[in-house]
Amino acid sequence: MNSPSNLVVCMGAGADKEEASALANRIGVPLSDEKGSELTLMTDSSGITLMGYGLSYRGDFEQMLYRLTKGRVRHEMLIHAAKTKLDRKTAVDATAGMGEDSILLAAYGYNVIMFEQNAVIAELLKDAIKRAKQNPQLADIMERMHLIEGNSIDLMPKLDVSPDLIYLDPMFPARQKSGLINKKLQLIQKLEQPCVEEEKLFNAANLAQPKKIIVKRPLKGRVLAERKPSYSIKGKAIRYDCYVL
Ligand SMILES: C[S@@+](CC[C@H](N)C(=O)[O-])C[C@H]1O[C@@H](n2cnc3c(N)ncnc32)[C@H](O)[C@@H]1O
Repeated sequence: MNSPSNLVVCMGAGADKEEASALANRIGVPLSDEKGSELTLMTDSSGITLMGYGLSYRGDFEQMLYRLTKGRVRHEMLIHAAKTKLDRKTAVDATAGMGEDSILLAAYGYNVIMFEQNAVIAELLKDAIKRAKQNPQLADIMERMHLIEGNSIDLMPKLDVSPDLIYLDPMFPARQKSGLINKKLQLIQKLEQPCVEEEKLFNAANLAQPKKIIVKRPLKGRVLAERKPSYSIKGKAIRYDCYVL
C-alpha cells in the first residue's frame, strides 16, 4: 500500500516514543509533535486512535460484548446468513476493516482468517485485538480471530484450506450520506477508496473454493461484480447477498 500523504503519527499522554516511532515507520508516515492538518494516528498509554475531520475512532470490541453472547449473536443478520450446523467451521473475512463483522462470526464459533490491506486500518485493528485479549470475556473469541495484513485478492487463492465461508464487505462507491454512517466508516472512507476490483475480489474468493460467499451491500445497492446471488437476506439499510457454491 502507498503511505497516506494526509496522515501523521502523534504521541499523546504516556505514549512510548520507541513504539510510536516504530508505528510511524511501519506505515511510512512522519512522527510529529503536532496533530496533522487532516488525519492523525494518536498513540497514548492505552492504545491508538484515528482522529481527523472533527471525528475520532478507536477500535473497542468491549463495546460489542452485549451482542456477542451465544444467545444474542445468533440473532444478528450476518449470522442468519452465515449459520451452519458444522461444529468446526472456518471463515475468511476478505475485507476485515475494523473487524466488527469478523468478531460476530468468531463469537458464533467460526475460526476467522481476516485479511486487511490498508496498513493504517490494520494497525488500528491489531491494537483493538491486543486490548480485547486482556478481557477474559473476549479472550476465547479473540483466539479464533487471525489477522493477516495484505491483499486478499492475492492471498485467498493461496489458502491451504478451503474455508466454509468467505465474507466480502468492500467499500461501496456511494455508500450512504455521511450524516447517516458511523464514525468508523466516515474515517475509513478518508483512508480507503471505494473498491474498483469487484470482479477480481469475487473471482479470488471463488478460487479459494468456499461452500458459501456472503457479500454485504447497501439495501438498494447493485450486486457485486454483476453476480446474481442464490438468495439475499434484507434488513432496514443493508442486505447480505449469499452465494451457495
Ligand atoms: C467497508 S470496510 C469493512 C468493514 C468491516 N466489515 C468491519 O466490520 O469493520 C472495507 C475494508 O476492506 C479492506 N479491503 C478492501 N479490499 C481489500 C482486499 N482486496 N484485501 C484486503 N482488504 C481489503 C479496506 O481496506 C477496508 O478496510
